[in-house]
Amino acid sequence: MRAIVARSGLPCSDPAALEEVELPLPDLRPHDLLVRVEAVALNPVDTKVRAGLTSGGEARVLGWDLAGVVEAVGPAVTRFQPGDRVMAAGDISRPGANAQWLAVDERISGRMPQGCPFAEAAALPLTGLTAWEALFERLGLDPEGGDAGRSLLILGGAGGVGSMAIQLARRAGLVVIATASRPESQAWVRELGAHHVLDHQQPLPPQLAALGMAQVDAIANVSDTDAYWPVMAELIAPQGSIVAIVGNREPLDLNLLKSKSVRFCWEFMFTRPLYGTADMGQQGAILDRLAALVETGELRSTATAVWTPISAESLRRAHAQLESGHTIGKLVLSGWD
Ligand SMILES: NC(=O)c1ccc[n+]([C@@H]2O[C@H](COP(=O)([O-])OP(=O)(O)OC[C@H]3O[C@@H](n4cnc5c(N)ncnc54)[C@H](OP(=O)(O)O)[C@@H]3O)[C@@H](O)[C@H]2O)c1
Repeated sequence: MRAIVARSGLPCSDPAALEEVELPLPDLRPHDLLVRVEAVALNPVDTKVRAGLTSGGEARVLGWDLAGVVEAVGPAVTRFQPGDRVMAAGDISRPGANAQWLAVDERISGRMPQGCPFAEAAALPLTGLTAWEALFERLGLDPEGGDAGRSLLILGGAGGVGSMAIQLARRAGLVVIATASRPESQAWVRELGAHHVLDHQQPLPPQLAALGMAQVDAIANVSDTDAYWPVMAELIAPQGSIVAIVGNREPLDLNLLKSKSVRFCWEFMFTRPLYGTADMGQQGAILDRLAALVETGELRSTATAVWTPISAESLRRAHAQLESGHTIGKLVLSGWD
């Protein structure tokens, strides 16, 4: 099969950074689906893994966000059959979807929304799972409105994860305050349902105060944990909760949260597949739920750009775009030439 491999931590402008090769079809484990990849969405994990590869070390197939068609199934598979259209974010410890075929566990795969093009579906799984797990499992908010009226600050609202988090939080009845720094990203977060927009290039406390809010009940930091740590401690309400998805570079002063009895938790979307947790099938269930929300119009794909075909050249351009740090929504590569 055709696959695009990342070879070393070269800059993505270097043709050797991402090259097309021929690889054998993946072997299937008992719970695996063999999926024909039709579209793959880009995520910062792709550029981070590529940047971390060492020269002369193992080549890796990146790309953990895809939509495609099941072509074969392992002997233990019960949820899907050949011909089914599926979407998945996969497992960071296994090869990704920058290839014509992917082996992915059925328990972390979901059905595609009916009538949804592959490119739009590919933009849903990784950011949808991250946002769902962050808000409804780690922060413990009720997806169905039981926490309506509580306030949520989303730091980094216009990116892939923020764009899903805004929609899910708004649907859950929360008061959604999202940050975005440019006119186009601010317009995007409003369009997705943010009640209020703060500019993260400016100090946040006075902007929140201008809305008549001194503090918020919960914070989802989907941007930079270190940079926002002190201001999160300032803005979180007593007994509030904070979730972060980006690892810290420096030690964090957990004591800043103590007097307010604030709960802090991490969200890592790959935890379930990486550790094979007993509840890893929950990810398949979340993906099916996201598909149902798309079908009822309660959630929209955040694909803002679709490039064709999937190739080493388009992937190099896509990595460069992502590394700018100002992507709005999701960038997707679709179809093979
Ligand atoms: N733990 C997990 O499971 C998990 C899952 C997915 C992603 N992540 C990580 O989460 C981060 C975000 O992922 P993503 O896919 O949402 O990224 P993304 O789509 O590349 O995010 C781009 C957005 O970040 C915003 N941004 C840039 N600088 C910012 C700042 N200083 N403060 C707040 N927002 C800022 C930009 O908004 P403006 O243009 O308006 O500035 C832009 O819209 C990445 O580091 C990624 O690796 C972790």
